[in-house]
Amino acid sequence: MKKAIYTQYGSPEVIEVVDQEKPIPRSNEVLVQIKASSVTRADAMMRQGVPKFGRLFLGLFKPKNTALGTGFSGIVAAVGDHVTQFETGDEVFGEKLFSNGCNAAYVCIAEDTVIDRKPKNILHSEAAPICDGFLTSYHFLKDIAHVQPGQRVLINGASGSLGTAAVQLAKLMGATVTGVCSTKNIDFVKSLGADEVLDYTTVTLADLTCTYDVVYDTVGKLSYKKIKNILGATGIFMTPVLSAAILWRMLWQPKKVKFAATGMKNTQVLKQLVSDLVHFFEQGQLTTHIDKEYSLSAIKYAHYYLETGRKVGNIVIINS
Ligand SMILES: NC(=O)c1ccc[n+]([C@@H]2O[C@H](COP(=O)([O-])OP(=O)(O)OC[C@H]3O[C@@H](n4cnc5c(N)ncnc54)[C@H](OP(=O)(O)O)[C@@H]3O)[C@@H](O)[C@H]2O)c1
Repeated sequence: MKKAIYTQYGSPEVIEVVDQEKPIPRSNEVLVQIKASSVTRADAMMRQGVPKFGRLFLGLFKPKNTALGTGFSGIVAAVGDHVTQFETGDEVFGEKLFSNGCNAAYVCIAEDTVIDRKPKNILHSEAAPICDGFLTSYHFLKDIAHVQPGQRVLINGASGSLGTAAVQLAKLMGATVTGVCSTKNIDFVKSLGADEVLDYTTVTLADLTCTYDVVYDTVGKLSYKKIKNILGATGIFMTPVLSAAILWRMLWQPKKVKFAATGMKNTQVLKQLVSDLVHFFEQGQLTTHIDKEYSLSAIKYAHYYLETGRKVGNIVIINS
């Protein structure tokens, strides 16, 4: 079977598509024939081996795990002897977290990890990226910010994978949503349901006179210092992008400033969040936005596009 790998850290040029044996599921695993997989910022960071301290876990001089791709959607092709929740032919989607291997024709995944039935009303291409933007932003908005109806939520980077998910989820949770993006994406972010859209090329957030209950910087371009005057008395600033500055700030203001790595959460917590998302998709309350689709053989071009930092929503690999 075809599988994307990288045996050294570096640019998209390090990615190869190779032939490997189809994996055999262990007793607690299902074998999934992948129809679509995602290409995410996290995949690119692992490929680059950044931030450098991450190499303590990923491999000091070269990646320990050469497989690429974290999000998938496909069809169960075989099940291990002790699998009880899935059977051959089920349409499923999920996330391999740090073990990767989803940019491939097949992948094995344990049934008690992040895997669920694909919402029936969406395509595999729309399901594959759910555990990137939607799962991360749902975790931040629900479990970290505890967003309540009527609250005012500002989402920076509203046109990205996490941002497009966050705008829709915050609206679903009853918030009044302000999206922040560049001029070319204003109409798109409005179409996601944002009540108000600010253009970061013409508006300085620090100059705003209103306040927000939550400022969610999905792309890590803001700092607490720059936005603190637009936070209400109990408002919080949160970001999924790790930096020394955010860690330092969290030490001093743990109630005001939040970072989390969603993939490190307990699997049962993630499974429940995914289950909620399946329900929302099946109710037609959420939509995955796909910017570009590539074939597995063209995956390096998907990574080059990702690295422009300009993608709108998600990038997906489609297996023929
Ligand atoms: N902590 C976690 O658990 C976790 C999980 C998943 C992802 N992440 C991280 O979350 C971050 C966001 O990922 P993503 O996939 O959503 O990003 P992305 O899709 O690559 O973001 C691209 C978008 O960002 C917008 N953008 C660029 N510069 C901006 C700025 N200065 N202000 C506002 N918007 C700007 C771009 O729009 P324009 O072209 O209009 O500027 C583009 O639409 C990544 O760093 C990723 O590693 C963390």
